[in-house]
Amino acid sequence: MATRRELAVFASLDGAFVPAGLLNLTEDGPQLNASEFAYGTRYIDRPGAVEIDPVSLSLKNKEAIRARKIFPENSLPFFGGIRDAAPDAWGRRVIEAKLKVPINSLSESSYLLEAGSERVGALDVRERIEGQPKEGCVPLSDLQYLMEAAERIEAGLPVPAHLEAIFDGGSALGGARPKASVRDERGVLWLAKFSSRGERLDVPEIEAATLRLAKLCGMTVPEVSTLAVGERRVMLIRRFDRYWDRPGELPEPGKLFESTMPCKGLIEKRLAFASGLTLLACDETDARNKSYGELAEAVQKYCHVDVVRDNKKELFMRMIYNIFVTNDDDHLRNHAFLWDPRLKGWRLSPLYDVMPRPSVASNRTLFLGIGPQGRSANLDNAIGWREKFGLNEAAALELIAQIWREVREWKVHFESFGVPPHSIAQAETAFRHIADISSPQLRARLP
Ligand SMILES: Nc1ncnc2c1ncn2[C@@H]1O[C@H](COP(=O)(O)OP(=O)(O)OP(=O)(O)O)[C@@H](O)[C@H]1O
Ligand SMILES: [Mg+2]
Repeated sequence: MATRRELAVFASLDGAFVPAGLLNLTEDGPQLNASEFAYGTRYIDRPGAVEIDPVSLSLKNKEAIRARKIFPENSLPFFGGIRDAAPDAWGRRVIEAKLKVPINSLSESSYLLEAGSERVGALDVRERIEGQPKEGCVPLSDLQYLMEAAERIEAGLPVPAHLEAIFDGGSALGGARPKASVRDERGVLWLAKFSSRGERLDVPEIEAATLRLAKLCGMTVPEVSTLAVGERRVMLIRRFDRYWDRPGELPEPGKLFESTMPCKGLIEKRLAFASGLTLLACDETDARNKSYGELAEAVQKYCHVDVVRDNKKELFMRMIYNIFVTNDDDHLRNHAFLWDPRLKGWRLSPLYDVMPRPSVASNRTLFLGIGPQGRSANLDNAIGWREKFGLNEAAALELIAQIWREVREWKVHFESFGVPPHSIAQAETAFRHIADISSPQLRARLP
C-alpha cells in the first residue's frame, strides 16, 4: 500500500546547514512512486541559496516557485538533485548491512535518511526540520578496518562490532565499488576507493595514474594518491565538494578547485552537486540513449555563462580521453556539476571515475553517444559533433593532438607515477594508438 512521507531538506550555505524546503515522497515499499517539493519562503530569499535541482527546482524565477508544490520534470518519480544526495549501490549495501536487511529492501526515504550528513554535495535530508546533522566520517588511520568491513559487506557477511566504522564512512556514497569517506590528520576529506573482492586488475593504481595522466593532458582533476594497506592498495581522491574558506567569504574566481587546507580561521564549506543524470532529467534506464552532445547542450542551458565555453571544451576533452583509454563506464553519474557560490551558478565538476578497460576488440564503444556514428569510440566520430562543444575543426584537432601527445607516452608517465610494471602490463590493451581510432584523413589534418 502506498504511503506518503514528509522529509526536511537542508542545504549547507557558507559552511552551515539551513532548512531549504519540504520533500514529500509517495512510496510503496521499496518503490518510489512520486515526489513533490516546496521551497521554504525564507530559503528562496537567502542571497546564497543553492538550487536543490537545476532542472526541476531552479531558483531563477523566484515568484513562480514561491509557496508552490513542485513536481519533477519529465514526470519522473524523483528529483535528480535529491537522488544525487541519496546513496547509490555501494552506500545502499552498507546501510543494509547496518540494519541487517536484504538488498534493495528499504524505501527511498530510509536510504535518504540513513545516508548521514557527509553525503556528496551540499544537501542533507532529515526526518524533521528540527533534526540535527548525522556526521559520518572516519579517520584515515582506520582504513584497515574500513577495508576489512567493506570486504565482509561485499561477501554478504555480518560486520562485527570492531569494524562498524564503515557504517559512518560508507553509507552515504555512490557508485558500485567499495569505498569510504576518510579524513586525514589535517582534516582534509578524501574518498577512499578499495580494490574489489576477487579482482584481477590493480584498479587503485591504474585509476589513480589515469586521472593523473588526464591532468597532464590539461583536464581539471582532483588530487589523487595511492596507499598500501596490508597486501592491498587503496586510491584516495580528494573530495571536490568540500573546501575551506573564511566565514562569509567566497572563493576567488578560478580558485574553487585549488587545494585549500583546513586551518585556523577557515571553516569547511560544501559545494552543491548535480550529476549528469540530473541535468539531463532522465531515468537511469534511459541513460544509454544519451550522448556527450546532450551533456554539452545541458552545459549551455544550466551552467553559468562565464564557464560555458570552457566547460564544453573540457567535456570534449574528456570524451576524447575516454576514447583513448577505453573508459567505457562513462555513464551519466560519472559526470557531474557543482554550484559555484561566487558565480551563483553551475559548472562542470573536476574529473573522477576514469578506469581504462583492457580489451582485444578493435571496434569499441563508450557508454554515451559520441557523434554521428553513435557510441563508436573513434576520433572521426568525435569530431563529427564538434560544433555541439563550440569547437571549429582546427580547435577540435588541436585538443586531440594535445591529448595524444601525453597518451602516447602513457607508460613513461605511469612509471614516473610509481605504477608497478605488472599493473602497467595489465592496462596495456586499454590504451589505444591514434592509428587504430582515426582515419588517415583525420591524422593528416592534425597540427
Ligand atoms: N573526488 C570526489 N569528490 C566528491 N565526490 C566524488 C568524488 N569522486 C566521486 N564522487 C562521488 O562518488 C560517487 C562514486 O564515486 P565513483 O564514481 O568514483 O565510484 P565507482 O564505484 O567507481 O562508480 P561506478 O559504479 O560508476 O563504477 C560518484 O558518482 C560521485 O557522486
Ligand atoms: Mg562512478
